[in-house]
Amino acid sequence: MLRFLVLISLVCLISSEPEEECLTFTKLNFHNAVVGTDLKVRLLLYTRENATCAKALESPFPESFNLTRKTTFIIHGFRPTGSPPVWLPELVEGLLRMEDMNVLVVDWNRGATHIIYSTAFRHTRQVAKILAETIDQMLANGASLDNIYMIGVSLGAHIAGFVGQMYDGKIGRITGLDPAGPLFNGKPPNERLDHTDAQFVDVIHSDTDFFGFKETLGNIDFYPNGGLDQPGCPQTILGGFDYFKCDHQRSVFLYLSSLEEGCDITAYPCESYSDYLNGKCISCGDGQPGPCPHLGYHADQWKNYSLLKDPPVTKAFFDTADEKPFCIYHYFVDIMTWNKNTRKGYITIKLTDQAGNTTESKISHEPATFQKYQQVSLLARFAQDVDQVKGISLVFSTGPVIWSKYKLRIIWLKLRPITRPEKPQMCRYDIVLTENKETAFQPILC
Ligand SMILES: *[C@@H]1O[C@H](CO)[C@@H](O)[C@H](O)[C@H]1NC(C)=O
Ligand SMILES: *[C@@H]1O[C@H](CO)[C@@H](O)[C@H](O)[C@H]1NC(C)=O
Ligand SMILES: *[C@@H]1O[C@H](CO)[C@@H](O)[C@H](O)[C@H]1NC(C)=O
Ligand SMILES: *[C@@H]1O[C@H](CO)[C@@H](O)[C@H](O)[C@H]1NC(C)=O
Repeated sequence: MLRFLVLISLVCLISSEPEEECLTFTKLNFHNAVVGTDLKVRLLLYTRENATCAKALESPFPESFNLTRKTTFIIHGFRPTGSPPVWLPELVEGLLRMEDMNVLVVDWNRGATHIIYSTAFRHTRQVAKILAETIDQMLANGASLDNIYMIGVSLGAHIAGFVGQMYDGKIGRITGLDPAGPLFNGKPPNERLDHTDAQFVDVIHSDTDFFGFKETLGNIDFYPNGGLDQPGCPQTILGGFDYFKCDHQRSVFLYLSSLEEGCDITAYPCESYSDYLNGKCISCGDGQPGPCPHLGYHADQWKNYSLLKDPPVTKAFFDTADEKPFCIYHYFVDIMTWNKNTRKGYITIKLTDQAGNTTESKISHEPATFQKYQQVSLLARFAQDVDQVKGISLVFSTGPVIWSKYKLRIIWLKLRPITRPEKPQMCRYDIVLTENKETAFQPILC
């Protein structure tokens, strides 16, 4: 009897469906990085069917790999510690929330994990070749190059570029997240990512002075906070390992915030960061021929405008807050003054809503020049926004001397929301600011 029961349960064990296992990203450790790893590329397929459980993408392709949908490749970079990228699950799930697509995580952790960067660098062409084999097979099964999107991080951005090159730039889109700089800086376009590698190439540069690439690489290149140092990242080695990777990784976190609700990062096409800070970049948005570009997933809405330029390359600047969700809110403050003498100075602006919440901005980098009857447009950047502006207060200052008492006579002032252009513009006429003294007033609808 007992023997019979054992037999029954054995049969049950054998005949029961083997539990479908989820494929996970290769986990390695620092020991692997020291010893070094040989290249091995695995493709992890995620779909809306189960956004947290990957299937291996092997030939023949699994049924869930629907080639009429968009396919997004995520390609990581150098892995000096061997650990899986921390941002990976959030990126996969965020993309699947945005659109019903195939997400293919390109796991080349074996090959990227090494304490020596140049070893990982040497594997990039080979990873690209392996990806092209998969893409060829996808095309043979009815996929279209238009529907292929590659998101490459650091070294991964150049891998995406190499793949794009093999298809003469006919791939739909490549997003480069802080494309790697070392061993790529100064290289000709065919040895790195560039704007001819896809129909549309957008790039975020967040660490141009260390791990990132300095020059423009795409149709639109976004430079958060000027592209060098990111707010909230440690400025010294005392910050530990984060000191090395925080600026670089910020590009990924900025992209991630574009997959969330409620924080649209708007950027401003501009020649330089200082021009942006000085409010000189007003060629988009309200009253202009085109909208301002948005960073991240929806950057391709700007494709048509970027391709109008010759060469089709645009730099765009913006500031961010120091933590998630990173967006800051831009307003233009247009001011017309009637002082007899020209005044140079800075203006600080504070906005208040009905509930008494306030938000403060320091505007303009260089002192603004106020001349009689000439309009000055200042760019004000706020870490928080208020819903309805009920009060504005201004402080004018000409420099570090706090007892100086110049006056600024304002004929009119207009507050124009640009991050949220649907909000009403607010105006105020006839105000006199005394230097270093806060002047508060209620604006009216313009
Ligand atoms: C996704 O897969 C995981 C692991 O197999 C499982 O626990 C989870 O229930 C699945 N979710 C759905 C929606 O099928
Ligand atoms: C594949 O995706 C397309 C577009 O989302 C859909 O219309 C079609 O039904 C899907 N095919 C299968 C077999 O699921
Ligand atoms: C971009 O241009 C194409 C072709 O000219 C047009 O079909 C499409 O509607 C345009 N898209 C936007 C967002 O303007
Ligand atoms: C404004 O203040 C109220 C009350 O303190 C608070 O509940 C609300 O979240 C604040 N709104 C904003 C936009 O900060």
